[in-house]
Amino acid sequence: MKVSVIGVGYVGIITAVSLAELGHNVLGMDDNKEKVKSFSKGISPIYEEGLEEALNKNIKEGTLSFTDSIEVAISHGEVIFICVGTPSLPGGKADLSFVERVAREIAKNAKEYKLIVEKSTVPVKTSEQILKTIKLYNKHGVELEVASNPEFLREGTALQDFFEADRIVIGVSSKKAENLFRELYKGIDSPIVVTDPNTAEIIKHASNSFLAMKISFINMVADLCENTGADINKVAEGMGFDKRIGKSFLNAGIGYGGSCFPKDVRAFNQIGKENGLDFSLLKDVDKINIERVERFISKLRKAHWVFKDKVFSLWGLAFKPGTDDIREAPALKVMEILLNEGAILRVYDPKAMENVKKIFPPTEKLYYAQDPYDAAKDSEAILLITEWDEFKSIDFSKIKDMILTNVLIDGRNLYSPKKMKEEGFIYYPVGKPPIEEI
Ligand code: UGA
Repeated sequence: MKVSVIGVGYVGIITAVSLAELGHNVLGMDDNKEKVKSFSKGISPIYEEGLEEALNKNIKEGTLSFTDSIEVAISHGEVIFICVGTPSLPGGKADLSFVERVAREIAKNAKEYKLIVEKSTVPVKTSEQILKTIKLYNKHGVELEVASNPEFLREGTALQDFFEADRIVIGVSSKKAENLFRELYKGIDSPIVVTDPNTAEIIKHASNSFLAMKISFINMVADLCENTGADINKVAEGMGFDKRIGKSFLNAGIGYGGSCFPKDVRAFNQIGKENGLDFSLLKDVDKINIERVERFISKLRKAHWVFKDKVFSLWGLAFKPGTDDIREAPALKVMEILLNEGAILRVYDPKAMENVKKIFPPTEKLYYAQDPYDAAKDSEAILLITEWDEFKSIDFSKIKDMILTNVLIDGRNLYSPKKMKEEGFIYYPVGKPPIEEI
């Protein structure tokens, strides 16, 4: 099938590459000429496991190409995916102006049937708005349909999530559109939930909000564990065996970040409000998450009541392992607070340092290290923020020789308190009794 993907940001590029991999003839389009040039050469400006290999393979096989012309993209695809950004406006509402602009262009330029698919995360009833726009601008009077096909990809495992999806949700208004989707996803052995576009839009926001709620819930219980000497990992294990609850997304920590959960929780809360409903549950989900960083820093304050001129090491800056994405990453907030209080930071992340440097350029008070050991030199506290695999196998006997004071604040429960006690560290985990004396 001929497919166009408008907007090759994160979601767009994964969609384009994966559909090409399924054998479709895919054209990716973006306004950003640099991005188009780079993708055309097989170079991905974003890091994602397996992406560049799949990109190069499909360019070579001729199933994938790129353009910066929206007219060319509209004429190419029978199915056109809209994957442009829906950033948050002040107050949490999604900015849909990019989606609307693409819809207008499709209506003005389409000369034959097109199935227009919203892939970007959008509020319920957006497909109805797109339909209105399309009717208004449908110059050539052709048959145009709108469908919702939300994505459930996680950064770091996006390609795998595409091909081994827990489910594929298609919100359609006709059998013709449903059949097109069935053909499009032929080769993927996942359940397909067929519904109307409004329902599909809600499924996306409800899924992300629910997962974020699970994380904030377990973090709330972690606070109780800290106050009572209980162990959050055991609480999560005890809860997770119940199939109705499930084991995943019960890892307590410094909170969720990324381009999806924070934005979607706020947007869904806003949608509830606009529909005259009390979605304040989600306000609390957001509030609990925002409080995580202060709570993490308060543990550092227990060990060091003054931060000025202290050397602190940060391990992990990306919002989660497996990505160089730093959007809404807790590490950025931690850096801001510590730098404002006059601390000297030595930071390390295997993938995200170049992105962080754009926000916090190196200074004499901020050093970007070569590896975790380099970051730990002369350190007065190590702060573990992102649970990259390489931090799991740290040689603490080596670390102890290079640091000034043995303090470790673990924002992801990566280490066991027993081991840290043996290593002689003052150690603050999440939702577990700390080791406060050595
Ligand atoms: C999330 C969803 O998992 C995807 O299904 C969805 O498609 C995507 O958003 C999106 O809307 O585009 P992603 O943001 O890539 O994917 O990352 P996750 O793996 O879900 O992690 C989100 C955040 O939650 C991370 O900061 C992670 O550290 C945190 N987290 C996750 C926890 O703090 N505890 C957990 O138990 C799980």
